[in-house]
Amino acid sequence: MGVVTGGASGIGRALAEGLAAEGAAVVVADVDEAGLAETVKRIEARGGRALAVRTDVSDRAQVQALADRAFSALGRVHVLCNNAGVAIWGGLETATHRDWAWTLGVNLWGVIHGLEAFLPRMIAQRDGGHVVNTASMAGLIASQGLGVYNTSKYAVVGLSETLAKDLKPYRIGVSVLCPMGVQTRIRDAERNRPAALRNERATRTEPVELIGRSLAPETVADMVLAAIHANELYVITHDESLEPLRRRFERMERSILDRRR
Ligand SMILES: NC(=O)c1ccc[n+]([C@@H]2O[C@H](COP(=O)([O-])OP(=O)(O)OC[C@H]3O[C@@H](n4cnc5c(N)ncnc54)[C@H](O)[C@@H]3O)[C@@H](O)[C@H]2O)c1
Repeated sequence: MGVVTGGASGIGRALAEGLAAEGAAVVVADVDEAGLAETVKRIEARGGRALAVRTDVSDRAQVQALADRAFSALGRVHVLCNNAGVAIWGGLETATHRDWAWTLGVNLWGVIHGLEAFLPRMIAQRDGGHVVNTASMAGLIASQGLGVYNTSKYAVVGLSETLAKDLKPYRIGVSVLCPMGVQTRIRDAERNRPAALRNERATRTEPVELIGRSLAPETVADMVLAAIHANELYVITHDESLEPLRRRFERMERSILDRRR
């Protein structure tokens, strides 16, 4: 039994379809009700079981209500995918308070709300499970023009690394998904920005050009499912990530080694 937030589109939809194809009943949550209905239709067309629950993950009460619905519908939840996310581009020096509130509200608080609502009951089930948190390569490598998003995703990586240690005694595994480009609607994330968090003067910032290949969401979902089965913490989807990661750690290494000379 699985729960996937951000299940109306992109990686979340592919994750929900992947879990359903493995035989799990799936609850999909999102603010996009039409997209949710489409996900459910696609899963049911292949003989799977799915339930849509409209949920804004930045709202704690709504995520609690999602957990109540999921546990009453599924009985048990074994896989929780905190995947809903939004992206925002622009320099930190020009970021508005609303940019921070919206991005951290969905990308970081959305994950925290998922843990608060689901973990106590998953632990009480006493039969293990798995949590997948969707971060990004932007949670491991900083890019100019992505600072607000970087902040949210670095937090999700740190949280997930600790969570894996904390949940080990309960046999609940943790994976953190860190993709580069994936062919989804993330570049149009503003479509879901609530009116109250829109900037008064809309300044349109062009998305930062992504390096590396752009993978299909289904390819990424297959990697996540494999990581769940193997209980792998990191799901680093793109080979192209290797060089920037090495450069980052070499710079850290140099900070220590240079002092020793
Ligand atoms: N596509 C990429 O290149 C890429 C790369 C790295 C990480 N990611 C991450 O992958 C995750 C999924 O994004 P995607 O690429 O599939 O994009 P997407 O825009 O296709 O899907 C994101 C989904 O999240 C939903 N969502 C937005 N705000 C929400 C809220 N407040 N509550 C509930 N649902 C909400 C959207 O309605 C949408 O269905 C995100 O966390 C994103 O940051 C994407």
